Amino acid sequence: MSKRVLFAVLLLTLGAIGDCAAAQSLIKLTIGGKTQSFSQAELLARPDAAEIHVPQDVAYGTSATYRAVPLADLLDATALPADSVLEARATDGFAAQLPMDLVRNRDPAIAVAWLAVEDPAQPWPKLPGKPVSPGPFYLVWVGRGAASVRSEQWPYQIAQLATQPSPSARWPVLAVDPALPATDPIRAGQSLFITQCLACHRLNHAGSADTGPDLPMNPVEYFQPAALSRYIRNPASVRDWPGRTMPAFPQDQLSDREIDLIVAYLAYMAQRKVGQ
Ligand code: HEC
Repeated sequence: MSKRVLFAVLLLTLGAIGDCAAAQSLIKLTIGGKTQSFSQAELLARPDAAEIHVPQDVAYGTSATYRAVPLADLLDATALPADSVLEARATDGFAAQLPMDLVRNRDPAIAVAWLAVEDPAQPWPKLPGKPVSPGPFYLVWVGRGAASVRSEQWPYQIAQLATQPSPSARWPVLAVDPALPATDPIRAGQSLFITQCLACHRLNHAGSADTGPDLPMNPVEYFQPAALSRYIRNPASVRDWPGRTMPAFPQDQLSDREIDLIVAYLAYMAQRKVGQ
């Protein structure tokens, strides 16, 4: 090989290595309309990135260890509108609405959110029963209250984090009558629906998720009550097929009482449809 050819090969090889290093996924962070993007390498190299241990990881169902960045650090120093949420949007159309006080909390007596970042050089194991890992970006919780953070508040394969108004302000169709007292069970059902269901489903066309079906015909209008509660507890016990996506909700994620509250909210919403 001539020196010149050798040199060309060397350049090509370096180019290929450069391309590999550049093959990084990006996460978009939009705060108050201003968007920044971060690569995996950039987040992994931050001085506040740390190795964290998650004793009860929701995606894997076991304990797990990650390199992660405290989410509050990424959100800090920004004036956020009161009553806003952080919408975590995943590549498959899942969209969690996370309360801002929860995602900005740093007190380990409560729950602290960390953005776990998969290192392309050391890929995470695949999720149980799925061909993919929760990477490249996965929101996990540590701290004494982590076990009480709901299953759908652990979004994975996140593509974008964005501040948004609260769901009932953003989609007035989802709101309940302002005259309902703060302690009315319908309000509790609404808040559970927003946390556990709206991440995948739209209701009366309102919402931003695309993972599950929109529910313009309210499920209470065609499911018998016992079948609906059973479906929410464990969809596979009502109908099952290889492509089924709706997850089961075990007792620790939704108690019987909480499923009743969600069904009560759905029944209430069946009476409040606008412009079908
Ligand atoms: C991770 C996404 C996801 C979450 C969370 C989720 N669902 Fe689903 N749901 C689906 C998908 C997808 C379907 C369509 C069937 C399937 O693929 O499993 C579905 C189907 C349904 C159906 C049946 C609709 C029909 O007529 O075919 C109902 C009712 C339902 N979901 C209610 C709920 C309720 C209530 C909650 C909250 C407690 C919830 N879902 C949470 C994804 C989800």
